[in-house]
Amino acid sequence: MKKIFFLLLFSLTLVSCKENKPKLLKYGAYENKIDALISKMTLEEKIGQTNLRGVSSRAKILPEDLKESVKNGNVGAFLNIMNLDYVDELQRLAIEESPNGIPLIFGRDVIHGFKTLFPIPLGLAATWDAQIVEKSSEIAAFEASAAGIRWTFAPMLDIARDSRWGRIAESPGEDTYLATILGEAYIKGFQGDDLSNPHRIAASAKHYIAYGAAIGGRDYNTVNLSEPLLRNVYLPPFKSAIDAGAATVMSSFNEINGIPATGNEFLLKDVLRGELQFDGFVVSDWDSVIEMIEHGFARDEKHAGELAAKAGLDMEMTSEAYENHLKELIKENKVTIEELNEFVRNILRIKFRLGLFENPYRNKKHTGNFYAEKHLKEAKKAAIESTVLLKNKNSILPISTKAKVAIIGPLANAPHEQLGTWAFDGEKEHTNTPLLAYKNANANFKFAKGLTHSRDISKKGFKKAIEIAKKSDVILFFGGEEAILSGEAHSRANIDLPGAQEELINELAKTGKPIVLVIMAGRPITITNIIEKTDAVLMAWHPGTMGGEALYEVLHGIKSPEGRLPVSWPKTAGQLPFFYNHKNTGRPADSTSFIPMEKIPIAAWQSSLGNDSHYLDAGFTPHFPFGFGLTYTSFNYSDMSISKNTIHFNEDLEVKVSIKNTGEKDGKELVQLYVQDLVGSITRPVKELKRFKHVFLKSGETKEISFKISSKDLEFVNHKIIKAAEEGTFNLWVGPNAAQGLKTSFILQK
Ligand code: NOJ
Repeated sequence: MKKIFFLLLFSLTLVSCKENKPKLLKYGAYENKIDALISKMTLEEKIGQTNLRGVSSRAKILPEDLKESVKNGNVGAFLNIMNLDYVDELQRLAIEESPNGIPLIFGRDVIHGFKTLFPIPLGLAATWDAQIVEKSSEIAAFEASAAGIRWTFAPMLDIARDSRWGRIAESPGEDTYLATILGEAYIKGFQGDDLSNPHRIAASAKHYIAYGAAIGGRDYNTVNLSEPLLRNVYLPPFKSAIDAGAATVMSSFNEINGIPATGNEFLLKDVLRGELQFDGFVVSDWDSVIEMIEHGFARDEKHAGELAAKAGLDMEMTSEAYENHLKELIKENKVTIEELNEFVRNILRIKFRLGLFENPYRNKKHTGNFYAEKHLKEAKKAAIESTVLLKNKNSILPISTKAKVAIIGPLANAPHEQLGTWAFDGEKEHTNTPLLAYKNANANFKFAKGLTHSRDISKKGFKKAIEIAKKSDVILFFGGEEAILSGEAHSRANIDLPGAQEELINELAKTGKPIVLVIMAGRPITITNIIEKTDAVLMAWHPGTMGGEALYEVLHGIKSPEGRLPVSWPKTAGQLPFFYNHKNTGRPADSTSFIPMEKIPIAAWQSSLGNDSHYLDAGFTPHFPFGFGLTYTSFNYSDMSISKNTIHFNEDLEVKVSIKNTGEKDGKELVQLYVQDLVGSITRPVKELKRFKHVFLKSGETKEISFKISSKDLEFVNHKIIKAAEEGTFNLWVGPNAAQGLKTSFILQK
């Protein structure tokens, strides 16, 4: 039996999460200025600061009454003002004509690029590369700031374990550790070291919290989570973003255990402010304050405003519960003026940090260098490194640049679609599609779409596609999903290739020509039905502006596919939610005793037949595991050693392993380290990612890779809401994905 060691004895190893009282330490240099300003503000102006007024992302005209509100000091921030004259005019009104001249912040969803679009965030996660993520957000900030935007509603740090959920496209994937690394990188990229740099923008870690745990992957849906699960899986990426200085946090649409996140005092005050020491401001999601009425949590708009205010929500996006009712609520003593002052303080602190008081206006000389050569270069690099090679029979890839290629499929030349979800500002005229890349490369190809779009069910285009396929050496089928099929409110119950894509692939297979399936999609697409008809499968996500060139170079071996799956890839949507770091159950799935459906004897006696935690028809493994991705070479892992068999709470464990490139091409391997805590005061996952490292190896080369972990990495929050590492035995694997690797074990001891 393990023991838990108490704080006094082992101060580093055990922290009671609940005992952390709010004690905001960070604040910084502006507190006196903020207090002086607040003392001059009227009640109406204070309420004004909490208002984030929005217009639709497509709006072209600015309503007159909004200008009036700004003059009166009734608006704190705007979203989606994309007409530069309006940005300038509104800011002028705020600075020159509003009572205290408090600047506005202009915000927008700049999620994976502004004009130059990078792969969707799930694709960026597939790079497992913090530098790429940081660079992509730095460029996004640089371009967006030229449009006066100083605040983005990104990064989304929701752990996503269900590929049906449309917003998995925006997520960092299913793993908490990977998300914490990428979360920090996003914040650094958007904000830099100094938020007052006019080319940087404030980030918003969203959606706080557990939005990705919606039942059945249905967007906005109910979330039921134990507190340990919340703290062990969903909270760490937010902690990492806040530690990196995230200026704002967005509360999520969902309820958690019956209380909507936007009105959740425990989550917003105790955890976010108290434990995580967040000193920026919290903004609601779009209308999420008044949606508490539909949730059945608030009686009406006024009550919704009261609940949000009591929970500690600083700024309300688009709905107007604060604007319409805070004054009255304060008069009735339901919300105190001190509470309102605190919201204003949090908001002004970020306005000061953004340098908006000294420098409120858009710099008209800053053009943003939209689509600059170096931006495109980074976008292409990110797209290359995000591609995940799932199958490569007989090393059909890379294809010779001389091969006669049949380019087929609805995504081969779909500039709007390859930009992916939340790509409001990227223009399709600037998008490099695969077809364009082949044209530019003067390649030997023929093109026939076959299907006009991903959902097309007409077979009209099949004939021409089959004709060109027959005359080719290899078929490149660019399939997947249009951008609109993932993202907010776009969950799918069936995640196969939509439309008649499978039928077309089946027809093309009859030509006997090899088929390379390139998938562009916002989520893993189940390909169980057709994978046998293909020779290679390359996952490209929605790769963004430079997707075409990136794919051309990967397919022809000018570059290698370097991505690894940030999510488990299911065989069928019926397996979802699916994640590698699940618990074991009392009857863990076991391949030796598993009897699949087709092998069950007719009229079998009613018994478990040796089956455990499986699906009779889909087994218990994913199609491709978390962390998986092939390369154009092969790697061998050997000679794993650990520095000690037993470590103490203040000691590091060093893990070494030799990796050899056993193939004929140079290549990059992603070496992953996983740990399993065998016995815990609450049960522990079968595996958890704790470290990863990229290593580049020339053909034939061997390198020794080493990792260090300590008891800090073994901590978890238990049922008593105590965070601690516990004594006992741990399994440890180093390998190329969550399902493979060399295994050893060690002991953690007092
Ligand atoms: C709703 C989305 O959930 C959120 O992510 C986004 O930032 C806002 N709308 C603003 O567009």
